[in-house]
Amino acid sequence: MSFDLLADLSKDEADGSFSHAAETAVVAELMARDSAEVSTPNVTLINPHPKKHGNSIFGITRDPYVMCWVANGCVWDYKKQNAFFNYCAKEVKEPDNVRTNYYHVVVLDGVCVGVIGIHKSTYDKSLGNTPTLTIFLSKAVQGRGVGPTAMKMSLEMFWKKHPTTPVVIDVRTDNRWMLKALKKLGFSSKYVVWFRGVDYFRLVVNDDAGWR
Ligand SMILES: CC(C)(COP(=O)(O)OP(=O)(O)OC[C@H]1O[C@@H](n2cnc3c(N)ncnc32)[C@H](O)[C@@H]1OP(=O)(O)O)[C@@H](O)C(=O)NCCC(=O)NCCS
Repeated sequence: MSFDLLADLSKDEADGSFSHAAETAVVAELMARDSAEVSTPNVTLINPHPKKHGNSIFGITRDPYVMCWVANGCVWDYKKQNAFFNYCAKEVKEPDNVRTNYYHVVVLDGVCVGVIGIHKSTYDKSLGNTPTLTIFLSKAVQGRGVGPTAMKMSLEMFWKKHPTTPVVIDVRTDNRWMLKALKKLGFSSKYVVWFRGVDYFRLVVNDDAGWR
């Protein structure tokens, strides 16, 4: 099986025009749906696959509106996207006693709308093997309850495999939407940490969370 996403991209995609088209298509499809679906988001988490999800992830990870809140705040390039799918393909085969990264694609009503991962920190070595949570969704679906649903599902899946392991969530202090989404799960910040010149609220969540 090939994970070379670049090889699968058409000329349009490769010159960057795909990003806008993909995002527009996702927005149009989701906006056309009955708003009744919004109150109970039909979310599934599945293993990332470059052929099934590459186009959607391409659109989302090149959107600065989304990615400015994630990691170093930069949009992804082809290299980063390829590496993501390659790592995921390897990690999914690892036994749970050695596996440190659990990434999933967030699917809403059959459409890939984002990524969620519980994974080893690459930015704070002091965390060691304590995992951190990352999530980002297409702007088309933000504010519709997808994030809290996906986080709950991801944490539940993780804690089934690693019941006593706490998960760290670092959120920029000005990311009020993520903080609101976390509050819906009963999580609030304990203290502030500083990375890359930015203040983050650090939340450490355990499998004794009230909603379990
Ligand atoms: C943060 C994020 C995962 C939250 O998921 P979500 O599905 O949007 O969460 P919710 O629907 O519960 O929204 C949380 C709150 O933010 C508001 N909100 C979220 N996105 C919004 C948007 N684009 N415009 C206006 N309000 C928005 C919601 O109205 C809601 O407020 P309320 O509780 O007063 O109604 C998602 O917005 C996202 O991917 N943002 C960009 C990337 C990001 O910030 N990742 C987290 C990095 S730590």
